[in-house]
Amino acid sequence: MQNIETDYLVIGSGVAGLRAAIELAKKGSVLIATKDAPKESSTEYAQGGVAVALSDEDEVGIHFEDTIKAGDGLCREDAVKVLVEEGPSRILELIEWGAEFDKEGAKLDFTIEGAHSRRRVLHSHGDSTGRELERVLTAKAAQLKNIKSLAYCTALDLIVDGGVCRGAYLLRGAEVVSVTASATVLATGGAGQVYSRTTNPAVTTGDGIAIAYRAGALLEDMEFVQFHPTALFAPSAPQFLLSEAMRGEGALLRNIQKERFMQDYHPDKELASRDIVSRAIISEMVRTGSNHVYLDLTHLEAGFIKKRFPRIYTTCLRYDIDITKEMVPVSPAAHYLMGGVKTDLNGATSIAGLFTAGETACTGVHGANRLASNSLLEGLVYGYRAGAAASALSSRSSAPVPEYITGKADAKEGNRIEETRSIIRRLMWDKTGIIRCGKSLSEAETVFAGLKPLLHGKPASRRAVELVNMLTVSMIITRAALLRKGSIGAHYRSDCKEPGTDWQNHVTISRESFFGL
Ligand code: FAD
Ligand code: SIN
Repeated sequence: MQNIETDYLVIGSGVAGLRAAIELAKKGSVLIATKDAPKESSTEYAQGGVAVALSDEDEVGIHFEDTIKAGDGLCREDAVKVLVEEGPSRILELIEWGAEFDKEGAKLDFTIEGAHSRRRVLHSHGDSTGRELERVLTAKAAQLKNIKSLAYCTALDLIVDGGVCRGAYLLRGAEVVSVTASATVLATGGAGQVYSRTTNPAVTTGDGIAIAYRAGALLEDMEFVQFHPTALFAPSAPQFLLSEAMRGEGALLRNIQKERFMQDYHPDKELASRDIVSRAIISEMVRTGSNHVYLDLTHLEAGFIKKRFPRIYTTCLRYDIDITKEMVPVSPAAHYLMGGVKTDLNGATSIAGLFTAGETACTGVHGANRLASNSLLEGLVYGYRAGAAASALSSRSSAPVPEYITGKADAKEGNRIEETRSIIRRLMWDKTGIIRCGKSLSEAETVFAGLKPLLHGKPASRRAVELVNMLTVSMIITRAALLRKGSIGAHYRSDCKEPGTDWQNHVTISRESFFGL
């Protein structure tokens, strides 16, 4: 087994991984390992924008209040304070590095999304904000001699010795290589792919969370999965996101009888927080016996729509939907994981030498429900912080790295992997979805129990590795959802609709505490 030595290892090349790497490069050599093409990430597809208190009408204190309110009482206040206070510097720095945000005349243009009380969401090229962040951060990293990248390398597991993380094993083609480092930053994004309906790209299979869990790290808030209200619902079209910024600019929701309905669910109507809008859509779908509702922009001026949402406009046209002329069929889809690997304010996990940032991490900023467009900001602020803190570590062990022996793939393995991935995705959607209850969650656990032997193999291909990680994360989300016997934020249980007396407690799970795995 080849061993690669580097001062710092970053796993993942989205906003959080890149921002961490740029900070780490100030102190030593950095290797960024990523399992697909370097830009393939949720970051690349982020549409609506990045929230930051920089407009004349806004203040960090108001951004703080809105974030706390959306999080339904479960945000970590010190983490939110860091996010909103440091956010402006991280964005101004990005602009200095060449980021172009849309402007109205000479001034930055801010849009509004659900649960924001001010226009504070910066956007780029209309609806391609994430692509702009990814472009600028990739270019910045490429200028730094200390940073090297390994694409198409899938992280398998961490190398942990005496409770200290020393790096990770990677699958490069069919070969396992080890990378040893003084500090490792896991920034592998979220886990949307565990649901059959998701806005997330194929790379988001919860790998970093499962990897950290196997190494013994503490996870928190895993029951909180955010479902985005408006993903395209059309035969043979992908579950493409229709940005919440569209509702911010005046788009309306209508049921299949073409009637508006959000006024019956919340005074903020289409701009209520995501959990409320997603559940309202589900109720309306059940009430009208339909599998979708409509997003209606037809009352907005066509030229404005094409200029403001160019990527969404052209993507929908590819599926013969002209959003300027007809209502778009939509329904909710899994979008974002509030929970993850528990960290302190500097991205440090419960394992020495291991840091996480971005959607893999649970810094506590999102509580029970993330405020729209706060995650790109979190990736920048906490990616920077994790990088800065990890760069303080400088001792790399020279002890030999134990071999990592993978299992042997047989001819039928491909089918088995795809069948099982599909079982998990459907099960999570049906039983651990937008509305769950003790019975549905227990049914999911029963099926998972039958799949548990899969967790004991050492998979030999990326698809097989992802399957093990998807199963691990699905079991943890389901268990956390069973443990929280009350409804709050994005976690809604039809068998206990009130928050419950101990609602302020966070659900934490670790390998030691979760005997089911
Ligand atoms: P990602 O950007 O997902 O990057 C993860 C990286 O890890 C990728 O490079 C991936 O290939 C790599 N990786 C994964 N597993 C492995 C492994 N085993 N080994 C090696 N590499 C691995 N948020 C906002 O704030 N504003 C928005 O407008 C917005 N719009 C969104 C639109 C869409 C369609 C989606 C899906 C999300 C959106 N979000 C938005 C959420 C936001 O984009 C993500 O939360 C954020 O980009 C996550 O960044 P990250 O760096 O943590 O992970
Ligand atoms: C969107 O554009 O609706 C996504 C914004 C987000 O997830 O923060």
